[in-house]
Amino acid sequence: MDVFEKCQQFGRASVIQLAQAEQMYPYFIPLQSQAGPEVVINGRKMLMFGSNNYLGLTQHPEVIEAAIKAIEKYGTSCTGSRLLNGTLDLHEEFEHELARWLGKEAALVFTTGFQTNLGAISALVGRRDVAIIDRADHASIVDATRLSFGQTVRFKHNDMEDLERLLDQYSRDHGVLIVVDGVFSMEGDLADLPRIVELKRRYGARLFLDDAHGLGVLGPTGRGTAEHFGLLEEVDIIMGTFSKSFASTGGFVAGPADVIWYIKHTARSFLFSASIPPASAAAAYAALRVIQREPERLRRLWHNARVLKEGFERLGLNTGRSQSPIVPIIVGDEFKLGRFWKGLFDRGVYVNAAVAPAVAPGSELIRTSCMATHTDEHLERMLAVVAETARETGLIRD
Ligand SMILES: Cc1ncc(COP(=O)(O)O)c(C=O)c1O
Repeated sequence: MDVFEKCQQFGRASVIQLAQAEQMYPYFIPLQSQAGPEVVINGRKMLMFGSNNYLGLTQHPEVIEAAIKAIEKYGTSCTGSRLLNGTLDLHEEFEHELARWLGKEAALVFTTGFQTNLGAISALVGRRDVAIIDRADHASIVDATRLSFGQTVRFKHNDMEDLERLLDQYSRDHGVLIVVDGVFSMEGDLADLPRIVELKRRYGARLFLDDAHGLGVLGPTGRGTAEHFGLLEEVDIIMGTFSKSFASTGGFVAGPADVIWYIKHTARSFLFSASIPPASAAAAYAALRVIQREPERLRRLWHNARVLKEGFERLGLNTGRSQSPIVPIIVGDEFKLGRFWKGLFDRGVYVNAAVAPAVAPGSELIRTSCMATHTDEHLERMLAVVAETARETGLIRD
């Protein structure tokens, strides 16, 4: 047997190969510009409705300048783990600010969001513990539970009866960590936090909220899904990434001081990986300041999200359960999805195509997401292109 055999089989007769042959392959497309509301692909200007740059801060002068200044001061890399030579005063100051912003005792910054979940969740869920996770949780949460020494059970997406059944079954004899996404990244729907908080209290469990797509986006001041529901204090641990609204890369957890201290000394993806580079930390820190100082960005983002969602729905498209600036168009068929995506791309619109396992089979979708920096003209053009392509693909009729 050859360990490479699977590689040779992969691709052959697969959807991926077919998509490539018909030039409908929607992945790994190189951008030749900044990831703003318009991007350059193959030398051509295109509308970008497929990024997580929700507040448009990757192009904010203060964020860019902070990254440049950090490189000038600290160099390009820390060349080591936070535990040893890789901690900067910048990291600690930023952690302090993140904790203060979310009203938590402490915070810890990791090199990526993925590593944050891997390290923090696998450290917390010990041999006698159980992680109860939503079936639609992000891959990094699933992988974290695979790494942990405890058990993992999953409840049906946002199904509170199913969650209660599992809590009832496991909470008597185990420590229980409930882990949910705040905003589910493909369909843009929200965790039912009010019910989850009620259940976690009743059963004495702890709650870990991955708010990668909620921070900077939801809540009156952008503090995320927990703030949106008025439950910031009730969520034990809030996890965030810097790769979305924070216009950088990296991640963090915020929570009780003793828990963060424990994670800091036991999370392997934190201890055995080089720390977040100075430029990335400084850019995310600057983004945090802008988020607090420029609330008009949040308002514009939500205006744009409403225009997009209402526009799709007026056309008769299915936007699923979206309650955020992530607005999917559910297509439900891989080949139709490929044709729809290609039609949009050829007309100058970049969006993301999501197939299983990122979504349940039969729920294949185009994931659109908007930014605070999209103008009215961008939105109008987007809706016109979507209408024309949806008609062409047979998703809607006149
Ligand atoms: C819900 C969720 N959690 C975690 C991550 C991982 O974050 P990062 O891309 O910053 O590593 C992502 C991003 O893909 C995400 O969508």
